[in-house]
Parts: sequence; structure tokens; C-alpha cells
Amino acid sequence: MEQNFKPTIIGFLCNWCCYGGADLCGVSRFQYPPYLRVIRVMCSGRVDLRFLVKALLNGADGVFVGGCHLNDCHYNPEGNYDALVNSRLCKKLLAHTGVNPDRLRLEWVSAGEGIRFAEVMNDFSKKIRHLGPLGSSENMGKEDLTLNLEAAARLVPYIKLVEREKLRLPVRTEAGVHEFLESGELDRVFDGAIAEKLAMSRIIGLLKTAPLSTGAISEKLGLAPSDVSRHMITSSRHGMVRYDTAGQCYTLVRA
Ligand code: FES
Repeated sequence: MEQNFKPTIIGFLCNWCCYGGADLCGVSRFQYPPYLRVIRVMCSGRVDLRFLVKALLNGADGVFVGGCHLNDCHYNPEGNYDALVNSRLCKKLLAHTGVNPDRLRLEWVSAGEGIRFAEVMNDFSKKIRHLGPLGSSENMGKEDLTLNLEAAARLVPYIKLVEREKLRLPVRTEAGVHEFLESGELDRVFDGAIAEKLAMSRIIGLLKTAPLSTGAISEKLGLAPSDVSRHMITSSRHGMVRYDTAGQCYTLVRA
């Protein structure tokens, strides 16, 4: 941990609960570190996957989402079930791009829980300070970090389609959402339908910078050479990349 490191934490706080909890926390003079930059939203379910990735892309070291307790959401009435699924998806996405998923935290805090808000923020700030600036605990330079997070951001529309088609909550109750998350279905769908696309999105991002060989792509992205070859063969067939036999490298034709 860098002693003088002052992290930037972006917090998306639900207007009806966590924002009130933060307000009460301030009024009651409960202490927490001054790293949080607050964005007030009407519901934690309104926090799009893209917002979370973009916050990190724009320099946040940690991202916090604060919503109403389950079954207290003012919309649907279960917008926060969506926040729960979204945060699980985002953590998977971060893990696959090499970013520590602990940099994202979702918590339920009511408007009357000022002290809980202070406790949660103290704990999360401590965690992010321990992880250090974004990229440090990941051993990733700024350039690679941007490449990976941009690849994740590009994939968000596709992930939303997959979510709509394959990750609909079967039963919209608290027990139903927990059962769904514990069933492993989200992991299966992610590994089966999203991880491959994410790898391809990262490769395309990398090839935008320069033509590269299979070995160089594999080394740079930490992907198995056989996986890179497979992706390259498919992309060549679709006319997205071209193999240059003289230079023994792939060139991006179209993204
Ligand atoms: Fe607060 Fe939905 S209104 S989480």
C-alpha cells in the first residue's frame, strides 16, 4: 500500500436510501475518508454496466453502488435485484480483463443508517487503499488497462442482449434472486457466451495499435496461443483480420 495514496472512489447512490444515509452520516458527523465522489441516481437498478466500466476507465480506483435494502426498492419494486445481477456480471467482466473485482462494491444502506454508511465507506476505502491505484495490484500499465477496459466497454451492448435472452431472473423474489445467483447459471452463461467475445474484443483493440503475431498477442493479453489462433482463424473467415505471410502477423481489416 502506498502511504500517501488518496484513491478516487466513484459512488452511485440511490436517491431514496443510500444518498439519505450519506446525508445523515454527514449531519451526524460520523467520519469516513474523503475519497468518495457521489453521483446520485434514482435507483441502484439504474446503474448501467457501462457506467461502472467507464468510471474505472476515467480514472476511478474503486466504484461503489449503494441501494435500498432488498424489497425496499421504490421501483418495480425490485430494481435492486437488477443491481445485484449487474454487479455480479461486472465483477466477472473485470476479472476477465485482469482488473481486481474487489474494486467494485455493492451495498444496501437505508436513509436511516448513517453510521452504517460510514462503516461501509471506511471499509471500502481501506480496501481500495490496500489495493493501490488502479493497475498497481493488477500489474498492468495504463496502456494495457485502457485497452482491456475499452474492450469491456465495447462489449456492454452484447452483454445486455445476452442478459435479456439468457439471464432473466426466473422468479423476482429475494429468495429467487439468491437462488439464481447461487445456481451458477450466470457463470455458465458468462463463460459460454461472453468470455470468448471479450477475448476477441481485447484482441481487436490490440490489433488497432499495430499488426501482431499470434505469439505476441498471446503474450500481451495472457491468452493461450491456441485460443488466439482459434480467434484469428474465425476473424479471418469473417474478413476482420488479414494474415500477412511476409511479416507473419495479423493486421486488422475492420473492427
Ligand atoms: Fe433505491 Fe431502487 S429505489 S435501490
